[in-house]
This record gives sequence, C-alpha cells and structure tokens, in this order.
Amino acid sequence: MEKSDRWFNAYHLRRWLKINSFLSLLVAVSLLHWHQDREKVLLTTELHGLRDDVAASLDYKYLLTCNGKCGPMEKCFLGKCFCLPGRTGSGCQNIRTADWLLTGDHCPVFHTLKEVQEKPVQEYPVEACHIAEKDPLSCGIFCYWQEDAGIIQVPKSSWERVSDIEYAIWKNLEKMGPDDRNPEHAEGLGAFAALPSDLGNYLEIGAGPYTQTNNILNVRNNVRIKNIYLAEPNIFRYLALDNCIYKDNTIHGQRVNLLSLPVEELPATEFFDTVVAINVIEHVFSAIDFLTAVYSALKPGGILVFGERYFDDPDKDALVLGSALLHPIRVKRVFLQHFLRMFDTLYIGDHHTSFAKARGFEESGYYFIGRKKEIFSAFDEPGQAELDTRFPANPF
Ligand SMILES: C[S@@+](CC[C@H](N)C(=O)[O-])C[C@H]1O[C@@H](n2cnc3c(N)ncnc32)[C@H](O)[C@@H]1O
Repeated sequence: MEKSDRWFNAYHLRRWLKINSFLSLLVAVSLLHWHQDREKVLLTTELHGLRDDVAASLDYKYLLTCNGKCGPMEKCFLGKCFCLPGRTGSGCQNIRTADWLLTGDHCPVFHTLKEVQEKPVQEYPVEACHIAEKDPLSCGIFCYWQEDAGIIQVPKSSWERVSDIEYAIWKNLEKMGPDDRNPEHAEGLGAFAALPSDLGNYLEIGAGPYTQTNNILNVRNNVRIKNIYLAEPNIFRYLALDNCIYKDNTIHGQRVNLLSLPVEELPATEFFDTVVAINVIEHVFSAIDFLTAVYSALKPGGILVFGERYFDDPDKDALVLGSALLHPIRVKRVFLQHFLRMFDTLYIGDHHTSFAKARGFEESGYYFIGRKKEIFSAFDEPGQAELDTRFPANPF
C-alpha cells in the first residue's frame, strides 16, 4: 500500500472516530432528553381526567376564564379579575411603581444576598423602580406590588435565577436534614389529623428534596396513598443530593412519579384526590397560575393540604422574608381567602406555631386542610365579613 494511502486511511479513521464519538454523545444526550420528555409526555396524557359533564359546564369555564370579563390590564383568578403586576386603580389602568419600602418610585440597588446582609438597605444607591428584566435580583421585583393582591407575579427570568439559588441552598444543606421545618408544619396542620385515611391519587407540589409527603407519612402512619406524584422544577437536581428523601424513587417504600416542571405548567385536570402545597407560593413566578393549577388538578371533593403565609404589611414582609432573592412572591390575605373559599374547611390554623414564636417574627398565614367544593357552590360569593369569620387571621 502507498504511504499516501495509509495516511489517507489513518486520516479517515481519525475522522470516523471523531464523528462517531460526537454522534454517540448526541445519541446519549437525545436519549436522556427523550427519557425525561417521555416521562413528561406519559404523565401529561395520563393526567387528563376531566369529567365530560364538567368539561361542558359553562360555570367551570367561567371560573377559569371569567368569561372574558377581565380588562386588558387584568387577569382572571378563579372567577375574579385581579390587576396585572404593577397595575392599580379602576380597570387597573394606572401604573403603580412601588419600591421596597413603598415610600416612592425609587428602590435601592443590590445584587447579592451577601451584599444585602452587609449594610442597611438605606445605604444603597437608588434607581428608578423598574420592571426587573435588566437585573432580576434587584429590588425591581417590588415594582410588582399591587393593592388588591400583593406581589403575585414576577418575570420567569427572575424566577429561573431564584430557582438556581434555591437549589444551591439545598446543596449546601446536603449534610443536614432530612427536614425543612417538618415539625413546624405538622404542628401548624394539627398533626394532619383531619386527613382521611385514603388519599388516593396524590400530588405534592414544590416538594423540595425532603418532601412533606414523608412528613405526613411519618406522622400519620395509617394513611394510604394509591399513587404518589411529586411536581418540582428542581427535581432532577435534587435527586443527585445525598439527603434527597426520594433518591431511590421511593418514599416509605412506595414508588414515586416525578414531574420536573413548575406547577404553573402542570397539565393535570381533575386527576388528583389529594394535593399538598406547603411553603411553595413564595417561590413560584405566578401565584395565580400556581393556585389555578392546584385547583384544576384536584377532583371535586378532593383534599387540599395547604400551608402558606400572607403579607399585608410590606414593612413587616421585609422583616420576615428579607430580600426578594428567595421569596419574590408575597400575596395578601384576601388573595389566599379568595382561593380557600373554593374549599370546605376540614381544618384551619394560623402561622403562630411555637416555632414561629421562637423565631420572634409576627408571621401570618393559613394552615388549611379542605375539601374542594362542587364547582357550582363556589359561586355563592360570600361578603368580606363572612370570609373573615371563615378564614380569620387568628382563628384561635
Ligand atoms: C421552601 S421549599 C419547600 C419544599 C417543601 N414544600 C417542604 O416544605 O419541604 C420550596 C420549593 O418550591 C420549589 N418551587 C419553586 N418554584 C416552583 C414552581 N413554580 N412550581 C413548583 N415548585 C416550585 C422550589 O424548587 C423548592 O424546592
């Protein structure tokens, strides 16, 4: 064989190997994506369980769309129009630019949590309160505050940054756990005693690496679950953590189905008998889409297990939550009440647990276990006085 032929063959062999390893990598990556997508697709088809009579019901559509009665600056939330973020006034036509301390239309500029911890917020340079696309971590997030609901939505780009930080925190805690205020939530929810013994098709939203499912099964060892689903945008990253409770795809020996998505994008309709959401709302990017997804995912008569704080006083909010970094969403009490009145109360508590008292902040919120009403009764619009009795700030 000629030298040039040998060179020719070696050259082609090298190229072939290069192309081949690139192709193998491509195949591996596609397979991984295919596997994850397949899991999502499978679950997506599986999760649609809307009853025909309900699908046809105008009332149900009304609840989700407000029959188009919301103006261009409003968004429908379970039959009621709320202003879009940063909007206020009649028809939500006015732009509201609220700063962190809600004293003007400028806000202090800071970029990292450490920075905020190092000096008082008043010492930062200020800039015009802007919608936080430019720097998702700046106080611009507070431009989203609105009179009727608090901060109910931030840009998804901000949320993605927050989500990364959330994961980094859990990773730092890898040697701790497995417990994210579990005893506190169990106390707040009355040791889950109001739960029926059969939880059927069960979904936990914003499960974190430890889950409240584990907490419930530890405290109430006599409840049965048919299928466990966990919806959590960081789920595949959490799976790699040493102390992730479902690392082997099981909780209490029962297989779990993993949904790697933000709950705002959950495709389930009237599929679940039980939905658990504890300490999640402050972390999402749209409180309306989050709660609407929870509502839609539950069957009528299904059980909601819920534990979230509300913030009516922005100065106090800042004390409890610190910077906007980890908790961009801060909903008002009336906003949660509007959601909770779609359920019959089985248990209600506030956030004045012994743990919160020990922290020394005045935290307000609802710990709630309820049963989703048949949709038609949801239209018995109660007056504020009745709401206050049914969902008192401090029921005890
Ligand atoms: C404070 S942790 C609470 C974890 C868990 N609920 C518990 O109490 O143990 C909040 C969790 O919500 C998740 N999360 C953030 N945005 C979310 C979204 N849009 N949909 C669902 N979960 C979300 C975060 O990744 C994080 O794991």
